[in-house]
Amino acid sequence: MRAEPFKIKMVEPIRLLPRDERESKIREAGYNPFSLRAEDVYIDLLTDSGTGAMSDRQWAGLMLGDESYAGSRNFYHLEETVKRLTGYQFIVPTHQGRGAEQVLFPLMIQPGQYVAGNFHFDTTKAHIELAKGRPVNFVIEEAFDTESSHPFKGNMDNEKLEQFISKNGKESIAFILITVTCNSAGGQPVSMENIKQTSELSRKYGIPLFFDAARFAENAYFIKQREKGYQDKEISDIVREMFSYGDGFTMSAKKDGLVNIGGLLSIKEDTALYEACRANVVPYEGFPTYGGLTGRDMEALARGLEEVVDDDYLAHRIHQVAYLGNRLMENQIPVQKPIGGHAVFVDAKKFLPHIPHWQFPAHALAVELYMEAGVRGVEIGSLLLGRDPETGENLKSPVEFLRLTIPRRTYTDRHMDVVVEGLVKLYERRDRIRGMRLTYEPKVLRHFTAQLEPVQE
Ligand code: F0G
Repeated sequence: MRAEPFKIKMVEPIRLLPRDERESKIREAGYNPFSLRAEDVYIDLLTDSGTGAMSDRQWAGLMLGDESYAGSRNFYHLEETVKRLTGYQFIVPTHQGRGAEQVLFPLMIQPGQYVAGNFHFDTTKAHIELAKGRPVNFVIEEAFDTESSHPFKGNMDNEKLEQFISKNGKESIAFILITVTCNSAGGQPVSMENIKQTSELSRKYGIPLFFDAARFAENAYFIKQREKGYQDKEISDIVREMFSYGDGFTMSAKKDGLVNIGGLLSIKEDTALYEACRANVVPYEGFPTYGGLTGRDMEALARGLEEVVDDDYLAHRIHQVAYLGNRLMENQIPVQKPIGGHAVFVDAKKFLPHIPHWQFPAHALAVELYMEAGVRGVEIGSLLLGRDPETGENLKSPVEFLRLTIPRRTYTDRHMDVVVEGLVKLYERRDRIRGMRLTYEPKVLRHFTAQLEPVQE
């Protein structure tokens, strides 16, 4: 048996409010967990983005921040680290992932062009659209089947992608974007073989290939575990091989960068594109050697990127997520299989089959889980999807998930047990859980600020 590969040097107290207070807090929050105060949450599984714990080495790095406006030594450390990790020549720091998207996409996309991906993350899709591009997804069919145990459900359907290129012409595609791991498909990995095939298409048609690399190390770990020929390779070699097939990446460093804020844009070797990015980062993010980050942030990130490719770290990380998923499965709770890299997705359609999509079953489950156990998860389903812009009807999402997203190095397996216990209790009384009705709904991105109430029978 192995325990966490770290010991705890600093603690942040958390507390479980009494049940009656949890009920009033969520009522006051308009039955929307996004509107809860974090201190009223016991175990916060809203996101793995920027919520992890830094190491002592990273905290020590904060003290070595060089806050010079231009040419900070921490920028050079970050640059060297990224070069070593990826083999790419150029980096531009940004304040977070969407900062990198905002700088790169307008340079890459002509109005009306497509950006073909396995499954674009929400902000990525938004930035493609803001740059007047058209996002299209080609993730394999298995991604939508929660029972399929395909080992690489984040894979691109390269046949479909090639048909799309042939039909629309290569000029109509601005670039290809592979998201590793594929967040929108449930933190599912993309295989090296699949990346290689996409890269061959990119070369054949002369379309640039980029990565959305937020969870690149977790993807590499899955390749090592699941793909033939990689068992004896170092994670850092797998990472380097993955990146060798692309032309650049955007990265939210708030995930596998192991920092609370930060992002990166990196270009393999296209000097002209890099120069354009460097010019574009100035008005949006800041001078190119800080790009929206402090010197100390860049130092923490450089050190985080060195730590994240460690085998022991990754084994613990992936196994903790799997531990939660497996314990839920042992208790007959329906979850997406196989368990992904950063989150467990509870299948609320199966958990609460009596609640229709317009009463948001996964959201109802999120609210109940907070009341039951003080745990905050997030709905990925019909509430998130919104309405048809033409008819105004609530769209029916193909999935109704409660995402339980695990911050890195933050909770112990004992916290995971609390989550399991809460969900098991809910499962026992699932017939009595009611759907939700909107009482306030903003026009865009409604899930963040919507207010709801339980449906009365
Ligand atoms: N790409 C992916 C795959 C992401 O998961 C995220 C953020 C971003 C880009 C944007 O990065 O937040 O640093 O600007 N995902 C978070 C989540 C918010 O909860 O899944 P950012």
